[in-house]
Order: sequence, then structure tokens, then C-alpha cells
Amino acid sequence: MNREMLHKKVQEVYVEEGITGITRRVIAKCFWYFYSPFANMKQLAKRHGTDKGATYHTFNGINYLDLYEQHFKAFKYKHIKLLEIGVYGGASLRMWKEYFANGRIYGLDIDPACKQYEEDRISIEIGSQADERVLEKLCENCGELDIVIDDGSHVNKHILASFKYLVGKLKPGGIYVIEDLGCSYALDEDYVRQKWPGMKYNNPDERLINNRDELNKVFEEIIYDLDHFQGEILSIQFWNNICFIVKAPFSEPRK
Ligand SMILES: C[S@@+](CC[C@H](N)C(=O)[O-])C[C@H]1O[C@@H](n2cnc3c(N)ncnc32)[C@H](O)[C@@H]1O
Repeated sequence: MNREMLHKKVQEVYVEEGITGITRRVIAKCFWYFYSPFANMKQLAKRHGTDKGATYHTFNGINYLDLYEQHFKAFKYKHIKLLEIGVYGGASLRMWKEYFANGRIYGLDIDPACKQYEEDRISIEIGSQADERVLEKLCENCGELDIVIDDGSHVNKHILASFKYLVGKLKPGGIYVIEDLGCSYALDEDYVRQKWPGMKYNNPDERLINNRDELNKVFEEIIYDLDHFQGEILSIQFWNNICFIVKAPFSEPRK
């Protein structure tokens, strides 16, 4: 059903039911906003209920979704493979599925209940993002990836374990995104364990303290490589709480 047909159908229903002009227009707008196949990412986020578009993911007028739209538009109609670490209720995976009409979406989460969000074009692996065997199994199934988004535990050593393994599985020109970097200063381990979603599934003996220095060391290595014409990263871009790392279309070996 295209836009005109949809509007006609809505109008017919309202005329039959005698709803006034202004109410009719408002309802038709909402209908268009939520059900358009041409919706932008902000509309899709609302439709699927992910918090990526929330005001707490906005700074100086720029929201995560503005950045995603900017970085991902070149991939929109391609047959891409996207992995998101952190599934929760599956909302963001469903948004990616709709945005990338030809994409294959993979999710990874430590919470076994997330398996229920599998559907056509969405596959979900259960396990920790810090466990190399889990990542290996996942990559055996999906092969090389175009996009990786880390919205998982937000624990620095987990972020690094996934990054170190998965950056090698990213296609040349692919994009690696790390979300919610503000969490990487969280020193209160009890709070992290109790308040952050799904943290109870992480090993109770594991230290979940977040020391940002570990992460900064790796960011500095990337910057060092860039300054010395070497490595496999083309760019690293920091925004409020989120960072986009683009893999070079071809890479210079480390000296
Ligand atoms: C912020 S939520 C993900 C939200 C989702 N991406 C969205 O936008 O709708 C974080 C998820 O990370 C998962 N998680 C926590 N520790 C993890 C780990 N070690 N490995 C993989 N996932 C983990 C939690 O179970 C939770 O579902």
C-alpha cells in the first residue's frame, strides 16, 4: 500500500465515522508517522520503542540517531550484515531491520530470554561479549560484518574484548560503534551489577569495575597509528557518549 492509498483508506474510515477535519488530519499524520515505509530513523526508533532517540542521548542538539543516519545512509539499501551487542527487548534490532531493508541483523546478549526476539532477518546469539568462543561461534554463522554496534554491558574490559576480536571480522570500510561511553567511568561495582540491565548474568566472581584508562589506552593506540600512517583504522570520531570507528578500505601494516 503506497502513501496515497493509505491516506484514502484513512479518509474513508473517518468520513464513515464522522470525525471532524482537524482530528482527522492529526490522526492521519500520526498514522503516516508511525507506519510509513519511508520513515526516517527517528520515526523508526519511536515505532519500535528503542531509547536511542531519547533526550538523554542528545547533546547540543545532536542525538545518537542523527549520527547513525549520517554514518549509515550509504549502507541503507545494501545487503549488509549488522551485529548489535545488547538486545534487551529487541527494539533496536527491529529498527535496524526496518532501516536496512536488505540487511541481515545479528544480536548478541548474555540474557537467554533475548532469544525470543529472533525473527525473519534477525538472528540472536546468547553469551557474553567478552567470551571469545561466543564471538567465534557468532562469526562462524554470520561471516564478515559491515557494522558492529556495542550497546552491551558497557564494562570496559568487555568492550575491549569484543572490539579486539570483532574489528578483525569487520569488512574493509565497515563501521564499529561504541555507545554510552559515559558508563566507562562507573567505579561503583555494586551499582553496575544491580542497576544495569542483564548484569546479573555476568559471572558473579568477575570484577565489573570500570576504569576508563583501559579504554583510553586503546583509543590512543588508534590515534598513534593514524599519526604514523599505519594500522587498519581510517578514522575515529567521538561525540557525546558515542564513538564511531571506521575501518580502512585497505590497510597499512603496523611498522
Ligand atoms: C542497554 S541494553 C541493550 C538495549 C538495546 N540495544 C536497545 O537499544 O534496545 C544492554 C544489554 O546488554 C546485555 N548484556 C549485559 N552484559 C552482557 C555481556 N557480558 N555480553 C553481552 N550482553 C550483555 C544485557 O542483558 C542487556 O540486554
